[in-house]
Order: sequence, then C-alpha cells, then structure tokens
Amino acid sequence: MTATRREIRLLLNDREVACGDVGPHDMLLDFLRTDMRLAGTKEGCAEGDCGACTVLVGTLRHGELEYGPVTACIRPLASVDGCHVVTVEHLASERLHPVQEAMVESHASQCGFCTPGFVMALCALWLRTPSPTRREVEVALQGNLCRCTGYRPIVEAALRAGRGDGDPLTAKRDAVRRRLGELRDGRRVELERDGARVLLPADVDDLARLLEQERDPVLVAGATDIGVEVNRQLRPISPAICIGHLDELAGIERDDRAIVLGAAVTWEEAGRVLIEAIPSLRDFWERVAGPQIRTMGTVGGNVANGSPVGDLPPVLLALGAELELRGNRGCRTVGIDAFFLGYGRQDIRPGEFLKRIRVFLPKPGARLGFYKVSKRRDQDIAAVAGAFNLELDGDTVTGARLAFGGMAAVPSRAPAAEAACTGRPWQAQTMHAAGAALDRDFTPISDLRGTAGYRSLVARNLLMRFHLENSEPGVPVRLEQVR
Ligand code: FES
Ligand code: FES
Repeated sequence: MTATRREIRLLLNDREVACGDVGPHDMLLDFLRTDMRLAGTKEGCAEGDCGACTVLVGTLRHGELEYGPVTACIRPLASVDGCHVVTVEHLASERLHPVQEAMVESHASQCGFCTPGFVMALCALWLRTPSPTRREVEVALQGNLCRCTGYRPIVEAALRAGRGDGDPLTAKRDAVRRRLGELRDGRRVELERDGARVLLPADVDDLARLLEQERDPVLVAGATDIGVEVNRQLRPISPAICIGHLDELAGIERDDRAIVLGAAVTWEEAGRVLIEAIPSLRDFWERVAGPQIRTMGTVGGNVANGSPVGDLPPVLLALGAELELRGNRGCRTVGIDAFFLGYGRQDIRPGEFLKRIRVFLPKPGARLGFYKVSKRRDQDIAAVAGAFNLELDGDTVTGARLAFGGMAAVPSRAPAAEAACTGRPWQAQTMHAAGAALDRDFTPISDLRGTAGYRSLVARNLLMRFHLENSEPGVPVRLEQVR
C-alpha cells in the first residue's frame, strides 16, 4: 500500500506553507492573491497569454535546483508541491532587486499593471544569463504584454540591469535546495475539494496503478492546455493526476543515434539538448509560445494531446521518433508515424501513459528545415507548420520526410510530396513538383487561423523556402533580413 499525504507543502518566498484544501481546478494565482494576500502578482488574461501573473518556480530536477518563469493563472496549485514559489514581493527586501532598479532607471513602467510580470520574467533571465543580448532579452519577454509603456524602455532595463548583490534567490540557494529535498518524502499526495480530486503519484509505478484504478482520470503534465480549458471552459478534470514532478519522466539521455526525452521534460529542457544536436531547430523552438509556457509545457503533453497544430509532432515526424508507452502490465513502443489515428484519437490505450520519446538524429549531411507560420510571431498557435528532413547522395534526394501541422485533422507526413522528390535532383524544380503533390496529400480546412487556400499556398511556399535556404545560404528569406 502506497503511503499518502493529504496536503501539499511548498516554499513560498521565505516561508514554508502547507495546504490541504486543494482541488484540481484551483490555480496557483488565486491561492497567491486570495489566500496568501500576495496581490503583487496580477491577473490579466487567465489563459497564460499576457504574463501579468508571472512568478518564478524553483524545482528540484535530479537534485538540481532550477528557477523558471511560470504563468500562475494556469498552473494548478497542487502541481507546485515540493517547489519554491517566488513572487514579486520577495525580490525587494531592504533595497530593490537589480532588475527592479533598472526598470525604475529606464522609466519602464506607466500604469504598472504588467510590471510585476515583466520584473519576474526579467529576473528569470537575470538569473540565467549574466549579460544578455538584445535578442535574448526579446526572447525572454515573448510571454509578457504591456499596453501602455511600450517595450523599448523595458528592453533597455534588461540590458542595463547590473549584477549587484540584491538577489535573495542567489543568497539562499543552497538552503532552498536542501529544504526542497527534505520536502520530497516519496509519498503519494491525495487532495480533494468540493468533491473534486487531484492526485500526485509517488512514482511511475504508482502512476500506472492509479491509471488502472481510477475512472476517467485526466493526466496533467505542464497544464498549458488543460489550465486554459479549466479557466475558460470550466472543464471538470476530476480526478486529475499530476505527473510533472516525477523525476522518472524527466530524464534526458543521448547516444549516437538518438536523444531520449522523458515525457515530462519541458520545452525549455528539451530545447537545450535538441538545439545543441540540431542547431537548425533554434529559430523554430523560439517560436514555441513564450518562456513561461516553455518552462511549464512538456514534450509528452504536446504529443499525447494530439492537437493538429501542436508544435512538436511535425518535428518528430520529420526526424523520426518512437514513443514508449507504459501501462500497469508493461511497455510497448509505437512509431510516431502510426501514433495519430484521427482528430482527437491517439494510439494510447486505457491505463497507458507516454513515458519516453526517442528522437532520431538526422543523418550527416541531411538538409533540414523547421518552420512555423502564425498570425503573431511570438506566443501564437501555428496556422501551418512544416518540418523537413531530406537525405542526399551527391545531388540526388535519396530519402524524404516532409511533415506538416495545420494541414489535416492530425499532424502528418506528406507521402505524395515525399515520393515526388525522392530519387530526383536537389533542385528548385523538384521542390516545385513536391509542392504541387501536396494537393494529393492534404485537403486543409478554413478556420480562424487561415483559409484552406492560404494553408495550401503557405505549405507549398515553405518547401520552396526550404530549398532556397539550403541551397543558397545567406539569401534573405526573413523580414528582418530585407528591411
Ligand atoms: Fe495572463 Fe496569466 S493572467 S498569463
Ligand atoms: Fe501599463 Fe504595462 S505599464 S500595461
């Protein structure tokens, strides 16, 4: 029988807090503002989009303490069990934090509503990157909106923030790491409020047991989709089973053929290793939401929810990947090509969960391209995404994996387009032919993100851009390059 605990325990700023009256629909933001009276953290959109509610969450991963920015509005309260939650109230003690000082000196606040969120996002950057470039600052601020100051002084503040010694997180880092380690008691956490339940399994074996025992459980990893559905659609998710804390789902391994990502590895963590191995992924990765969502969202969640416009599936389809699924009676492996069965249907059986994703590394010399087209550059959902992986022998295409998101009910490869370029010379004409063949692969729909005609045209043009970028390096293909 698994030992259980009926309360969450966390560090909140400089004190320890325990709370037993927690349900699956309770979000961290409401707890901070209403129960803890920490009203510095604001609520703007309540769907992870504006950054006004940004706090830092320090998490122990394999014994290491790491702080990341998180949108508290969609972060389930239960999921911060064993974490250090840091709000804006904690940054300034006798004097302002260097980031706050820089905001003041740069006149980077007007009405001030967005300011705590910006400060926390910049503090996350400050902790990680001593002398950020302008580009790094812009990426750090992708998830924060300001309606009145304008971004120039905020970016300036980030660039001028000195190191100083006024940072409480640096000063107390070792003590916090020790205390978080002590809070991990290896027990299952079971919580209930108003008849709705939320569970945190003790380990993956416990997770497998729970999935078999519970009726219609909802798995919650990063909650970046489910948190929005709970807030906006009042979706009931009882019993919810949180899995983001499970170290066994958060490992990253690498051999000479593949990178293996635990399903609860976040976008932020996965990006570090994948971009190092495949540098051409960088621009695409920076187009995935903003830092807050990349800190929370997991690779497993993005695949398992099967969205036709999920960011990761086209990348996995292009590179090739295997999914390891675990149930209470063992594991099985499914190729990514066979995983998406239809809209909202994936090859996951009742009682199973996604454990690991094995991402195959491209062959040396492969031509690679990863693209996302959306209405807004940052923090948006793709209208069309394309991920391309061509193998060449001399000038001849010998293998093609062309994958798209937003073109069908599921993310999928384009077999007719792949056939149109395989065995053909690596030329613009060949990619024209592949683009024409896309009409046999897809019949896209029209929706708020784009018409069917727009999507078809974009998909064809992405193939041409892919060829152009890979055959004429340096040719301007981005707005920034032709301005
Ligand atoms: Fe807008 Fe949370 S309130 S991101
Ligand atoms: Fe007013 Fe940013 S200072 S919204």
